[in-house]
Amino acid sequence: MTAALSPDSTVAVIGAGAMGAGIAQIAALNGHRVQLHDNRFGAGDAAKKGIAETLDKLVAKGRLARADADAAVARIATVVALPDVCVAQLVIEAIVEDLGAKRELLQRIENVVTSECILASNTSSISITALGAGMKHPGRVVGMHFFNPAPLMPLVEIVSGLATSSSVAEATFATALAWGKTPVYASSTPGFIVNRCARPFYAEGLRLLAEHAADPATLDAVLREAGGFRMGPFELIDLIGLDVNLAVTRSIWEAYFHDPRYAPSVLQQERVAAGYFGRKTGRGFYDYAPGAGKPAPDTEASQPAPAQVTVHGDLGVASPLAERLANGGVTVERTRADSRFPDGAIHVAGGAGGAWLVRTDGRTATRRVIDAGVRDVVLFDLALDYSAATRLAVARADTCSDTAYASAVGALQAAGIAVSRLDDVAGLAVLRIVAMLANEAADAVVQGVAAPDAIDIAMQKGVNYPRGPLAWADAIGAGTVRDALAHLAAHYGEDRYRTSPLVARRAATGGRLVG
Ligand code: NAI
Repeated sequence: MTAALSPDSTVAVIGAGAMGAGIAQIAALNGHRVQLHDNRFGAGDAAKKGIAETLDKLVAKGRLARADADAAVARIATVVALPDVCVAQLVIEAIVEDLGAKRELLQRIENVVTSECILASNTSSISITALGAGMKHPGRVVGMHFFNPAPLMPLVEIVSGLATSSSVAEATFATALAWGKTPVYASSTPGFIVNRCARPFYAEGLRLLAEHAADPATLDAVLREAGGFRMGPFELIDLIGLDVNLAVTRSIWEAYFHDPRYAPSVLQQERVAAGYFGRKTGRGFYDYAPGAGKPAPDTEASQPAPAQVTVHGDLGVASPLAERLANGGVTVERTRADSRFPDGAIHVAGGAGGAWLVRTDGRTATRRVIDAGVRDVVLFDLALDYSAATRLAVARADTCSDTAYASAVGALQAAGIAVSRLDDVAGLAVLRIVAMLANEAADAVVQGVAAPDAIDIAMQKGVNYPRGPLAWADAIGAGTVRDALAHLAAHYGEDRYRTSPLVARRAATGGRLVG
């Protein structure tokens, strides 16, 4: 493998905005002389001052030695004239996200640097192939996509265009690794890995909201407390900015020639039209006005715990629920699987025939009533870890009686779980989002965007997912993902939920998607 750039070599960073400043800081802390250039008067010096202040804070917190901070700052030189970057062995551009501007810049740089110099772009959406086209040596153009804030986020996508030479990609990868980052290889396709594979997290969340499954606070709480995500889709979009998030969605949707899977949300567009951009404007899906407070998720009122439940068959990944019920003082009887619920079910006494508490498989509760021929069905959502989840979403069939529903809620509460009722939507929230995330990741594998393990690493290190989507699919079974998607496709009659060929194959053979 090609070696990392020597720490003796000079790194030029062009564009001293949020990303450029962060990248310059990383390179300087790793021993490189850094040339920082920005075409806006004073921007380079302001960025250098900002870096010095950041490093001072790290020194004050005891995370960096004073001498190392001073040496790093001393290694950064702001350059006014672009030709001065001629000594650099690696140039990383982080200027405005515009193909024409980036192309012009790279071509100007190519004329002054040596033939060995790597030209890297931090672009998040522009084709690396397109950036390389028209260059004298397109093989040296590579994507080096950091995440914001660059000094803190470990992931760097190393993106190869059609002409990028493998030795350039390898040297860039090795350099990111030497800088303490977690690099992954990706091919230049719309959204690369993370911005593409994360789309369903937002898109399915927005769809659930558009269908009035629940309000943003409830859906966010379910994704956090059951899904294990650090933030739910709405609080995350509010942080990113509704306008920025919509622009990324739109660019990927357009780049894929309006594939319905990536379609933007009308509901989000309407909020953007109103100027509700999220935290930065004081209003997005939530209100950030002083004193507004964060709304609480809808949570079912406390119901009496049942004395006894019967677990039919094997609950699979939801098996820890039985132990939690027992720990909550409920007698747990076990019997063989009921033919109407072959994937396991918890029967709770209450109402005329008792409630069937069943894990969602992508069908609505009401559909399951029709398919199983029982009236009182309550579905519960997927959880990252049923032994630890503090909340679960449920859906109640239209036919389910109040008493049966109350007994099902009481059982989950006895297991120490807060219950949020969603409208009877297909796939509930966590299963629907996880199935679509896994499907997107599988399609990215099929299309050669990246290797399976690279995708899983990218989603954990780039957007803090609690588990890689492919490993998550393996944990619940590729067949579970395939079935959820098939049920969603049947429910909506939309191509959006088509199954990735890789999910279909692994589901057929019982094989794994990653590892
Ligand atoms: P920014 O607007 O904070 O900074 C861009 C800087 O580039 C500005 O200081 C501007 O004066 C300068 N600039 C513009 N045209 C220039 C030119 N021709 N020559 C020299 N300097 C020029 O933007 P930000 O957020 O730092 O983004 C920069 C790049 O990084 C973009 O390509 C963006 O897509 C990418 N990126 C941004 C992320 C983010 O979350 N902000 C995350 C990952 C990548």
